[in-house]
Amino acid sequence: MKILVTGGAGYIGSVTTQELLNQGHEVTVLDHLKEGHPEAVDKRADFIQGDIADATLLKKTFSKKSFDAVMHFAASCLVPESVSNPSLYYQNNVTAGLCLLEAMRENQIPKIIFSSSCAIYGNPEKMPITEETHRSPTHPYGETKWAFENILKWYSQAYGLKAVSLRYFNAAGATEKLGEVHDPETHLIPNVLKAALGHLPHVEIYGNDYPTPDGTCVRDYIHILDIAQAHILTLKLEQTTAFNLGNGHGYSVKEVIQTTERVCRIKIPTKISPRRWGDPPSLIANSQKIEKELGWRPRYPALEGIITSAWKWLQNHPEGYSTKTQKTEAH
Ligand SMILES: NC(=O)c1ccc[n+]([C@@H]2O[C@H](COP(=O)([O-])OP(=O)(O)OC[C@H]3O[C@@H](n4cnc5c(N)ncnc54)[C@H](O)[C@@H]3O)[C@@H](O)[C@H]2O)c1
Repeated sequence: MKILVTGGAGYIGSVTTQELLNQGHEVTVLDHLKEGHPEAVDKRADFIQGDIADATLLKKTFSKKSFDAVMHFAASCLVPESVSNPSLYYQNNVTAGLCLLEAMRENQIPKIIFSSSCAIYGNPEKMPITEETHRSPTHPYGETKWAFENILKWYSQAYGLKAVSLRYFNAAGATEKLGEVHDPETHLIPNVLKAALGHLPHVEIYGNDYPTPDGTCVRDYIHILDIAQAHILTLKLEQTTAFNLGNGHGYSVKEVIQTTERVCRIKIPTKISPRRWGDPPSLIANSQKIEKELGWRPRYPALEGIITSAWKWLQNHPEGYSTKTQKTEAH
């Protein structure tokens, strides 16, 4: 199939692009490279540097090739930044997303697979979280993801668009060539590994008085290759729906640090800091819906394996991708 991947120079989009190409699909990546990395874009893909908010560019892109589907990863994704600058989040995650949807509608692109998030559930009391759990986001990032899911629902009803929202829990891990590089990095596993490598003086543990077994926050980590595989499976769906994507097992911050110490054979310094605003104690997925409907199964569910893959990648790329200069020139 011919697929347009927005945000394909970023962490999850680049891995999905690689896997789509490995399975014989034809991929065009559209990314403005403000957060993405040119080296993360598989050479077999066509690459367009540009913004999903650029209607002229989208028109040109869609008139050149008739795409079967869009995989929409492009977004602003930092929770604290979304609280301090909600305008950016509504502009990029909703308004720019609408621009993409309009261009799809004008060019009759039938399908979109959207990167949603467990952030739409806010702070649920009951674990594990199913797709029916009440949606109650607690920050603008989560609100924009939920808003876009709703837009997709109404576009689907009115215009026949097929839209699948994949609600990822915590994406983690790496492939041989592709890993996680965000600036700033707010995710736990890359930061613990940076501390193991000596690039950070310690790991901050934000709160150790949560109502969890060891007092630290519990999260469900899912390997990016399992996320990529779920995207590819959803291509065959002819309906509008949403699926959770997680392993169904939660690990606390302390467990992640201890597992990393075992993997790296290094003692990792930690510092207890105050809780971060809006961090729920626990987020664990029930992903039975996608297992039943699409036969998806996580192939890499073990935390140790997830961390090992990320550790190998970081050791080979201690400075991450190396195109800071190119990136700055690019925009
Ligand atoms: N990483 C996670 O744990 C996680 C969890 C849940 C949901 N998600 C969602 O998955 C998607 C991908 O996440 P990621 O971690 O790979 O993020 P990322 O920041 O690594 O990748 C996003 C990419 O989109 C590009 N981009 C952003 N806005 C754009 C625009 N207007 N036009 C063109 N390109 C644009 C960036 O340059 C970047 O390359 C996001 O939508 C995110 O909200 C991620």
